[in-house]
Amino acid sequence: MAIRKGFPMEIPYYPINDFGPIMKGMVIGGMGIFHVFVAQFAIGGGMLLCYFQWLAQTGRSPHAQQFLDSYFKLLVLVSFVIGALTGVGMWFSAIQISPRTIGLMVGSFHWIWAAEWTFFCLEVVAGYAFYRYGAGLKDGRRMALLALYTLAAWFSLFWINGIISWQLTPGGWVKSKSVWAGFFNPSFFPSLIFRTIVSMTIAALIACVVINTMALDRRARSELIHRSAHFLAPMALMPALGLWYFLSIPADSRSWILGGSVAMTLFLGLAVGASLLIGLYALVGLLIQRLTINGATATLLCALAFGATAGGEFVREGVRKPYTIREILYANSIAPAELAALRRSGSVAGDPYPLRDEEGYPNDQVRLGAKVFRFQCSVCHTLSGANGLVHLAGSWTPDQRRMNIAKLQRTKPFMPPFAGNAVEVEALAQLIGWMDAGQPPSWPAAEDREILLTIARWLEEAGTAPGSAVRSEPEKR
Ligand code: HEC
Repeated sequence: MAIRKGFPMEIPYYPINDFGPIMKGMVIGGMGIFHVFVAQFAIGGGMLLCYFQWLAQTGRSPHAQQFLDSYFKLLVLVSFVIGALTGVGMWFSAIQISPRTIGLMVGSFHWIWAAEWTFFCLEVVAGYAFYRYGAGLKDGRRMALLALYTLAAWFSLFWINGIISWQLTPGGWVKSKSVWAGFFNPSFFPSLIFRTIVSMTIAALIACVVINTMALDRRARSELIHRSAHFLAPMALMPALGLWYFLSIPADSRSWILGGSVAMTLFLGLAVGASLLIGLYALVGLLIQRLTINGATATLLCALAFGATAGGEFVREGVRKPYTIREILYANSIAPAELAALRRSGSVAGDPYPLRDEEGYPNDQVRLGAKVFRFQCSVCHTLSGANGLVHLAGSWTPDQRRMNIAKLQRTKPFMPPFAGNAVEVEALAQLIGWMDAGQPPSWPAAEDREILLTIARWLEEAGTAPGSAVRSEPEKR
């Protein structure tokens, strides 16, 4: 790690990885969606096992024991193992993509993480003990183990939910830096309750798939399915919880969803639509009409639930833009307080890491552009792959590129302000032009002083405040 001294905060330069045409944010996002789905199933699965254990030991359901003996518990075990592995995967990818964010998350909440890992260990031990020895134990002991497993699993959600929701709504933490103000932040409770209900939903749907594969007669099967469907009933709270969550997030984040970024609007629409379909099916089909859901339908509903999870997580990550930690750190790991100094010195003057394939660029200016891109833009863009700058700005005229990059946060307020000087803006514009021209071996460096002065004026006009903080005013003439 290399540090440049003399800024309000010392700016660390970490070595970073390049995932080719896949945008870095997508690497974390893709893994995250999978991780969240299996980890939430592991929690809801534990709750469902507790419920069936209670049904069995109180004699309320003649077939509950068969469900407990089925491979459902194996699925729960496998999913928390996969949840753990993808959890490690998240750390592994996140420290390559956004080491500074991770550093701040660990630095600010180390005891919370420690608590989370302690509960996780308990979850592993209790879950495995039940899986391995549960069959030979008395009812009370089985229940104790299951309850311990479920409580530990839910508490690891409790702890991590505080940190993840803090990223979007750090609340009073921004001023006080108090751990508890950050932990119990404005979106903590809506998010926690919402995720708990999602966990129950996923577990109930997977249970319906499992029950359909068990060797049972029709009546026994529909009895078990009806019991599992009770876990879908809390979905009725989702609209109210969703609204509560929506109101707890900052106004500019809300505006991305409400059309400011149509991809967000669409993904949210898909997530809400899929959840609504599951909820209606659960309410009307399973709970009111007491239909027996077959394996194929249950599998389809699980797929819808996965889709809803994917859409929801995409939007939750997306509405945080331009920050990874709101007010504190932009997505490209530059802190708002550092921006003005970087405007003067240039953003990559202290970046010690060489470019990959340095010889492939036609001149030093384009090489500088590639370094600026890597440092400031590559977390959300590739050059010609996903969200590629050549796709977005290839057709622009040179001046259009210069101005829109210089005024980046006003071009689109979900981007951070440009954090370098005029020479760097020009270098980046040249890089895009060269790539769009098909990367010819020779490309003259552009060195027009007039142009640099114009860019400097544009940077000045754009200011260093985030785009969401600026409002239009009548023009002064
Ligand atoms: C926080 C993530 C993020 C960062 C950092 C970021 N961008 Fe963007 N940028 C986006 C998103 C999202 C879009 C919207 C893409 C779309 O509309 O399809 C976008 C759009 C653009 C566009 C097209 C704008 C338009 O109006 O069509 C350009 C040009 C662009 N970015 C350049 C850059 C440059 C140059 C950098 C680095 C200096 C950068 N961006 C940094 C997220 C980011």
